[in-house]
Amino acid sequence: MIALMTGLVITAVIVWRLVHLETDPVLRYLDALVLVVIVLATTVVAWAAGRFGRKATEARALGSYHLLRRIGGGGMGEVYLAEHRFLKRPCAVKLIRPESAGDPRARARFEREVRMTATLSHPNTVEVYDYGRAPNGAYYYVMEYLPGLTLEDLVDRYGALPPGRVVYLLRQVCLALREAHGIGLIHRDLKPSNVIAAHRGGADDVAKLLDFGLVRHLTKPLATGLTADGLAVGTPLYMSPEQAAGDLRVDERSDIYSLGAVAYYLLTGRPPFERASATAVLAAHARDPVVPPSLVLPGIPEDLERVVLRCLAKSPADRFSDTERLERALGRCACEGDWDADHAARWWREFSPTAGP
Ligand SMILES: Nc1ncnc2c1ncn2[C@@H]1O[C@H](COP(=O)(O)OP(=O)(O)O)[C@@H](O)[C@H]1O
Ligand SMILES: [Mg+2]
Repeated sequence: MIALMTGLVITAVIVWRLVHLETDPVLRYLDALVLVVIVLATTVVAWAAGRFGRKATEARALGSYHLLRRIGGGGMGEVYLAEHRFLKRPCAVKLIRPESAGDPRARARFEREVRMTATLSHPNTVEVYDYGRAPNGAYYYVMEYLPGLTLEDLVDRYGALPPGRVVYLLRQVCLALREAHGIGLIHRDLKPSNVIAAHRGGADDVAKLLDFGLVRHLTKPLATGLTADGLAVGTPLYMSPEQAAGDLRVDERSDIYSLGAVAYYLLTGRPPFERASATAVLAAHARDPVVPPSLVLPGIPEDLERVVLRCLAKSPADRFSDTERLERALGRCACEGDWDADHAARWWREFSPTAGP
């Protein structure tokens, strides 16, 4: 359209000049030639700009969503901040990586992830809005956008958290897990980057559990070919000894171990086992005693430390048997009331950090 209008305007100018201005035939000829070249060049540029502009818009549009910027990515996908084109509501779109999109196993995992997440409705679990396929064949799902920071970013930027805040956040994760475990779903990839301390419903430090990419049903077997993916995709730093050993029948106590490892990280700024290689970390989960968090960072209360170390017991039988019991034990810690919604609001007001890469 723009190209056409530009072409028309310049053509009119040429005709006008030729008719009214030049009298010398050579100059008229030159004038006409120069202007024809300008017309052609302008038309080509305008056409190209229109074409590439349209392509760029198409690339940033995904169904009813408009992609704004990349906010994360990990093993399997890329996550973008997006907006519903009509509702104008911000949301997060997770796209399966293009190199994985052609792999039917990766797609099956992606579909399982979104379906399982969609069965959950706890307020501390990320909410799924939609699932779709882009014209270029990429699969994506849409979820609520969680402004805030992952627990990994929080500790990275501000150091270990005060014990009361750790209890405040982890009790919420326990509640999210209670719903999942209640219907037989084991998350299997609990780690600080999979929990966001979000601003939701006018409140801060609302813990949101996400990334059910490795989720497994306790009793239903996985489709063939999907069984060994846990080790390939998950990080060993927060993995239970039984999951690290490749045990396919891990139950909720495996998630409880990982949650203990996350608690250790939040309290000390370090995961329970730091070793030179992934294999050495896995071996340490299986064999090495945990250095009590209070020896890494003095001042961690004894009662909370006991809870964390019980989560990190090597044998599942020595851990809390479910997240309900763990949540109650956290609630009984003396530091429990040291952090609440008001503290959270004040902290976010003071630091007002922004998320994302
Ligand atoms: N709903 C969301 N709102 C805001 N940020 C998100 C959301 N989902 C994911 N992220 C960001 O993207 C990162 C990767 O998302 P995740 O689902 O964990 O993907 P992966 O499977 O690649 O690890 C997260 O650690 C977080 O920083
Ligand atoms: Mg993740």
